[in-house]
Amino acid sequence: MEKQVLRFKVNGDEYEIFIHPKTLLAEAIRDHLGLTGTKRGCDTVSCGACTVMVNGFSVKSCSVLAIQCQDMEITTVEGLEKNGKLSPVQRAFLDHGSYQCGFCTPGMLISSTTFLNELNGKVPSDMEIREGIEGNICRCTGYNSIVRAIDAVAQGKYKEE
Ligand code: FES
Ligand code: FES
Repeated sequence: MEKQVLRFKVNGDEYEIFIHPKTLLAEAIRDHLGLTGTKRGCDTVSCGACTVMVNGFSVKSCSVLAIQCQDMEITTVEGLEKNGKLSPVQRAFLDHGSYQCGFCTPGMLISSTTFLNELNGKVPSDMEIREGIEGNICRCTGYNSIVRAIDAVAQGKYKEE
């Protein structure tokens, strides 16, 4: 099968890459763009380590073909930081110790950010937070510190810097 051209925007930068039509979005991000913050944990749409934002929605990048993202905007964990400043969710995770090995953390940060964006300022219950990140598995921390970090951002304790 011939390679195809994929034009898309990743973390605000325009890219044009030539890929095999069966290339997964996760492979394009990691192997073609070198953005290795996005992890491949299971490749079976189970763990959420590969989660990125596609046009503002959380998407497991092992579950879509890169070519399906033609002309779309992708945000990976590397794109959460702006002008050298960590995002509110990143700072809350740091303050609450919401990570250990870091394999799940990139996907968890993306899912948490998308979840909070979709709330439009509404403060969620603990259960709603847990449902909001249910597609992401963390084997190290347990989820309490992650839920506390997301809650702190939802409560307005962390602003964009
Ligand atoms: S690598 Fe995509 S969900 Fe696990
Ligand atoms: S910090 Fe280890 S799997 Fe999440």
